[in-house]
Amino acid sequence: MAGRTGGIPENVIDEILARNDIVSVVGQYVRFTKTSGQNLFGLCPFHSEDTPSFSVSTSKQIYYCFGCHKGGNSIHFIMEVEKCTYIEAIKLLAERAQIQIPEPEDENYRKEAAIRDRVREALVEAARFYYKNLMSERGAAARQYLENRRISPQTARAFGLGYAPDDWSALFRHLRTAGFSEEVLAQSGLFTKGKKGDLLDLFRGRLMFPIFDVMGKIIAFGGRIIGDGNPKYINSPESVVYSKQRNLYALNFAKSSKEKRMIIAEGYMDVISMHQAGVTNAVASLGTALTDRQLDLLSRFTEEVVLFYDSDAAGQAAALRGLQMLLARGKRHTASTTRISVAMVPDGKDPDEYIREHGADAFRALVQNAFSVMDYLLYTAKRQSSTNGKFDARTYQNLACTYLSWEPNAVLRERAANTAAAVLGVSVTSVLSEAERISGEKSSQEQAEESRRIERQQVTVPSAPNSGETASRPELLLLCQLAGLGPLYTELPEKPILSDFTPGVCRDIARDALILLESGKFDSLSLMNLCEDRQLNGRPAREVISELLMRTQSIKNKDRRLFYLLDSLYRLRLTVYSVKKNELAALIDTMPEGADREAAKKNLLQIADYLRYLRQRLKEVQS
Ligand code: UTP
Ligand code: MN
Repeated sequence: MAGRTGGIPENVIDEILARNDIVSVVGQYVRFTKTSGQNLFGLCPFHSEDTPSFSVSTSKQIYYCFGCHKGGNSIHFIMEVEKCTYIEAIKLLAERAQIQIPEPEDENYRKEAAIRDRVREALVEAARFYYKNLMSERGAAARQYLENRRISPQTARAFGLGYAPDDWSALFRHLRTAGFSEEVLAQSGLFTKGKKGDLLDLFRGRLMFPIFDVMGKIIAFGGRIIGDGNPKYINSPESVVYSKQRNLYALNFAKSSKEKRMIIAEGYMDVISMHQAGVTNAVASLGTALTDRQLDLLSRFTEEVVLFYDSDAAGQAAALRGLQMLLARGKRHTASTTRISVAMVPDGKDPDEYIREHGADAFRALVQNAFSVMDYLLYTAKRQSSTNGKFDARTYQNLACTYLSWEPNAVLRERAANTAAAVLGVSVTSVLSEAERISGEKSSQEQAEESRRIERQQVTVPSAPNSGETASRPELLLLCQLAGLGPLYTELPEKPILSDFTPGVCRDIARDALILLESGKFDSLSLMNLCEDRQLNGRPAREVISELLMRTQSIKNKDRRLFYLLDSLYRLRLTVYSVKKNELAALIDTMPEGADREAAKKNLLQIADYLRYLRQRLKEVQS
């Protein structure tokens, strides 16, 4: 937890939050048009929408957007609108409330920040080193390779391309000589650990592509083998400065393009070729499936996305996955206005080859004539149901109707159903009802899942020690309920304990929360603070928590508050112990006769006893 506050004392931050009421802070940017209980609603400043899904809770002092899932306290709001850091946001709010911030003292924070800064510097120095090598004698083959691929020296320079010499320690020696400590280098993502724990150059004999963040700072590298071989590309691992799923390659360049669309391609070379040809509104997802985070990032700069993946099977499969995600996102964010289309290279090549062979105008025409999502999906269905020129109507019917069921917009769905119906020689109604059946199946499935959420958590609650970021919904709900408890905590007949929470991030948060609870200092804002810089279930913890806080009612009646909390607590324990019981039972089956097995059996009986007790208590609170 240390580190997030830039050495600014906790009580000063509390004071800053207390003197910057969320309603007045947000009110500078958002016009509230609706109230519901203690919540105010307005149009979200972070994504475009027509109906307000952005909410602020006066009692909890947090905001959350049900459309784009951004959420947090006043500080986070300022970070988000002003695109600034946590510390900068604190300073801004301190100024607003005329509060003096004392000089930072937190040692840990200073150290972490210093390491991050040094890692960034090391990456810049590495890029320089690679560039120099590219330009040196050692880089002759790499230069020739670039020339063969028609990448001009100017382009290579603009994208900071370089060459990593074929040597296990060239970069290591260079950076050590330049004054970087092993501690810093170990965190840079540029090295792997050798058997003796020594650092070895990760990139050797490769053409190097620096990966920039949206501000143009180097955060990682990709390295391509010169010529053929495996693996074709190696990429930096995640690090203190690199989060793969939050980044899009070349967005730092593309963001200033005047075009209203943004092209998403797969690879480094596709994007570089496009930029070189003057098509500068292009970014790459770097061979991974598109993530929600990447789309969030993109939606800051554009409202229209053109997927332009390779036309080989892998590229098309990735495009299909990307679309499914984008459409699901469209379903969740009813107000989402990101328009999507899909462009394709006609002759089985990738965008890089096409633009090199046919030039920018022909390439732009492809983008201009991109398929609409539904047309693309139906085209794909057709292709997928033809083998060796033989068309299988049954397969087409299944695929087409499945794809139709992805489309949230009824008008678009019906229009596409017309096309599919024509292909199949059946009525539009039958196609539509089949699509509806498929999506109905899914949504009733989703509903069933929703209502069985608590039971479902059994599967996801890891009972083995785990140091990860996972947390089940019940335990998070419990944290939120505890945050709303206030002095009532002392009246809880049975209190949550550390082992109720999944080891890892969630337990770390709970540890601090339980301490604060004991001293009567735990509320939604302190919970939000504990989330800072932490990830839960693949999202920033503060977003996960602010969503839950916003969804849980502020209950006035104190008995009901206690009741709901105990209900959660018992349910949570029931699921955790049921899993334990099943696991132990399975284990016992595999154990040989003996003392260990007897002890395990005894343990099993105790767990069964405890489960009975929990069920009894749950019945009591429910009655
Ligand atoms: P491609 O195989 O399409 O490569 O993978 P490419 O971009 O066309 O590269 P060239 O033209 O052969 O040089 C697309 C992207 O997938 C990632 C890279 O980001 C690549 O740009 N990838 C691919 C890897 O990370 N590792 C690999 O081994 C292959
Ligand atoms: Mn390629």
